Amino acid sequence: LIHLLSIEGLPKAMIHRILDTAESFLSVTDREIKSVPLLRGKSVFNVFFENSTRTRTTFEIAAKRLSADVVNLNIGSSSTAKGESLIDTIDNLSAMSADMFVMRHSESGAPTFLAQHLNRTSGGSIHVINAGDGRHAHPTQALLDMYTIRHFKKDFTKLRVAIVGDIVHSRVARSDIHALTTLGCPEVRAVGPRTLVPQNLENMGVRVYNDLREGIKDVDVIIMLRLQKERMSGAFIPSAQEYFKHFGLTEDKLKSAKPDAIVMHPGPMNRGVEIDSAVADGPQSVILNQVTFGIAVRMAVMSILASSKGAAST
Ligand code: CP
Repeated sequence: LIHLLSIEGLPKAMIHRILDTAESFLSVTDREIKSVPLLRGKSVFNVFFENSTRTRTTFEIAAKRLSADVVNLNIGSSSTAKGESLIDTIDNLSAMSADMFVMRHSESGAPTFLAQHLNRTSGGSIHVINAGDGRHAHPTQALLDMYTIRHFKKDFTKLRVAIVGDIVHSRVARSDIHALTTLGCPEVRAVGPRTLVPQNLENMGVRVYNDLREGIKDVDVIIMLRLQKERMSGAFIPSAQEYFKHFGLTEDKLKSAKPDAIVMHPGPMNRGVEIDSAVADGPQSVILNQVTFGIAVRMAVMSILASSKGAAST
């Protein structure tokens, strides 16, 4: 694996290898992340053209735990604001001995474009990790979600998983669906208003529900998503109150799921819109575990990419 651009096409064995490697970086308490010098002497450049709290910070912590040098490019104050192109920016950073780029971009396909460019200029010796591109993919989020599900529920082949909310604009939903399907999850549900759930998901084997109680009935795992208003240009945007009334996860609605169901959310959360605080902070929530596991999963991805010696490919 030279680059991590998408979950689509990633073999099941590679997903398990990443999850197993992540597990080896966690202490027995699952709260402490070990330091291992696998990237000593390497430079990781975080280039985020879109806002981020969790992904950018956990990539920085992960790279430091691997003993890499980490550079965070502040796009707002970089020379892209003076009209410098993405490729020129990347070529200049490559000339500063970058070994790995972690990229978030609002345009779907931007990390793939970057990877293809670097394959031509560096022969695949510089790695690209997609940290979220437009509506397309957020592979490390899906991997940390799979880590969390495996940690709490063990066997994917016995699970019912509901992804709830604004599916149509969600790169997390798309990546989670690919990962769950690859790992053998027999029932993946997409739950949300008709305007926010693509009906063609049924072609991917996903069951579509437009009613929350029905959609989460007897599920083992619930993944809540926020309304991604920044990607809704020209579309109908429901009011927060109206949305919460029908699709906000409350303690009462959560009773439809199995009693031991776990509640996940990639963040950022909008409390009182897609999720009630009593659920977000309640006993079934594993939302902050996801964040901690994200460090170990990102360490695993970076160390596996850094160890790859294959021919350049995306
Ligand atoms: N889940 C996630 O991608 O969060 P950030 O936007 O804060 O990175």
